[in-house]
Amino acid sequence: MRQFHDIRRRSRYIWPVGTVDYMSIKEKPARVLSLPLANAKIRAAEHLDFLAAWLRRPRQTASVMPSSRYLARLMVDGIDPQGGRILELGGGTGVFTREILATGLATDRLEVVEINPDFVRSLVRQFPGVDIIQHRAESISANVSGELGSYQRVVSGLPLLAMNRSTQRAILQEAFSLLAPDGVFVQFTYSARSPINQSLLDSLGLVATRAGQTVRNFPPATVFHFHRI
Ligand SMILES: C[S@@+](CC[C@H](N)C(=O)[O-])C[C@H]1O[C@@H](n2cnc3c(N)ncnc32)[C@H](O)[C@@H]1O
Repeated sequence: MRQFHDIRRRSRYIWPVGTVDYMSIKEKPARVLSLPLANAKIRAAEHLDFLAAWLRRPRQTASVMPSSRYLARLMVDGIDPQGGRILELGGGTGVFTREILATGLATDRLEVVEINPDFVRSLVRQFPGVDIIQHRAESISANVSGELGSYQRVVSGLPLLAMNRSTQRAILQEAFSLLAPDGVFVQFTYSARSPINQSLLDSLGLVATRAGQTVRNFPPATVFHFHRI
């Protein structure tokens, strides 16, 4: 069953704290000089939204604050903007989405899956042209626009460690049905070890490699790449 979030079709981008003002500093000093402050306000609002989501759904949100841009850069490292489609799982407030688009990937080649309707509304507002899909990641393959086997990467912000083995299995099976033969599933974790244990990886014919680490995130995080043997 397709459950695309219908408001994405009529979305227009509305910058949360007002429009960027290009008038000269002489004419409008206060607005122009307050741009960094506006960005800080946006980030603060994202942190509050995240905290509120965590208070309501701690297991599903799995973190008290969004990922840092340093972690986001590690997550998108290696994306080919001219390559196949990208599927992001667990978009949250859009930290990874922003960085994926910063690689130069066209908006119509990115789809973002998110289960929390509040985050979905915010993603729709922020990223016009990107398909934001309100759905569970564990049964997503029938709800995306791209063909099976046509995705270069799945970028996952899902709390895999908090999920049971059968949910982890379902998510990986769905993701690898969409990925090209050399496609990569990118996942971060707050542990130094892979969030998927070896026996599940073996049963799915996958290998895990550590792709990077950063302490400039709360908590410090490690990025893993999963690919077919
Ligand atoms: C740890 S947060 C990461 C959010 C964002 N990517 C970041 O790094 O800041 C996990 C996100 O996954 C979403 N999520 C959890 N379970 C999900 C599921 N089964 N399907 C889709 N999204 C899910 C949560 O609502 C939340 O936005």
